[in-house]
Amino acid sequence: MKHFLKETDFARSELPQLFALARELKRKRGTRSAPRPLAGQTWAMIFSKSSTRTRVSFEVGIHELGGNPLFLNKNDIQLGRGETVEDTARVLSRFVHGLIVRTFDHGEVERLAAAGSVPVVNALTDFLHPCQIFADAFTMTERWAKGRTGAKLVESLRGRKIAFLGDTACNMANSWILGANLFGMNISLAGPKEFAPSAEFQAQLAKENFRGGADYQFTTDPLEAVRGADVVYTDVWVSMGKEEETKERIRVMSPYVVTGKLFAAAKKDALFMHCLPAHAGEEVTQDVLDNPRSIIFDQAENRLHMQKAILATLAAAAR
Ligand code: CP
Ligand code: NVA
Repeated sequence: MKHFLKETDFARSELPQLFALARELKRKRGTRSAPRPLAGQTWAMIFSKSSTRTRVSFEVGIHELGGNPLFLNKNDIQLGRGETVEDTARVLSRFVHGLIVRTFDHGEVERLAAAGSVPVVNALTDFLHPCQIFADAFTMTERWAKGRTGAKLVESLRGRKIAFLGDTACNMANSWILGANLFGMNISLAGPKEFAPSAEFQAQLAKENFRGGADYQFTTDPLEAVRGADVVYTDVWVSMGKEEETKERIRVMSPYVVTGKLFAAAKKDALFMHCLPAHAGEEVTQDVLDNPRSIIFDQAENRLHMQKAILATLAAAAR
């Protein structure tokens, strides 16, 4: 069974087809030729955390692919009252064709995938957010591979540099390290030293099948990270579940605000990206969010098109 729990659940060789499908689905959206590969299917969405983009893009996407989305707040099902993850997976597998899961512990998505018999998609854990990274990479290709198709689309990512600033131990930072290695990009992260990529994450990286190992640079100097960058990327400083640490996080991360001045130190045609939600004045200033090279809303829209391509691919593999 093919799942999408982490970026590397897609091999490099599968990426051209996936990205081409996302592009096709985007082009055909709302037309009579729009494919409906989930016709007759129901996909359950188990969410333990808040969501705007992920929830709406999956619900709309499943509907547009001909399927039925079934949103389940964790606390509305017995999982929230102690029914095991394994029993939940076994029971739901008897009813639905796939599970989309947003939760805290990454182990939970792995256990659902292991115990169930339908595809599982990671819609964000404390550890990784792979749907966001694939949609972001697709958004980059729209800028860098204009008019090109197939393998050329994905090749346009190769050798590009992404600078990730702020909370360099969060799910987005981890996922971008995996993603950058998968797409052949260079990644430099800048954040407080206590938020350097964790030992747990480094152990996970060691298990991945990157030829020559997964690569990234970490620095405490934001200017060093953004120099020569094609993309400057940031995320909130206080991820869901970390609210108790708010004061301390803001204190140690304050040197890493993406200001107009810092953004100007990247390449002159560099893009600004943020998975959103943004806290203007915290991790990024409003002028950068509003900059013509800020592509934050394209990223948000492309969640829909890329996730539809992922669902269609997983559904085809499950047949
Ligand atoms: N970027 C993202 O995943 O947003 P939501 O938390 O609104 O789903
Ligand atoms: N790091 C953020 C991402 C939100 C999409 C969080 O986990 O809250």
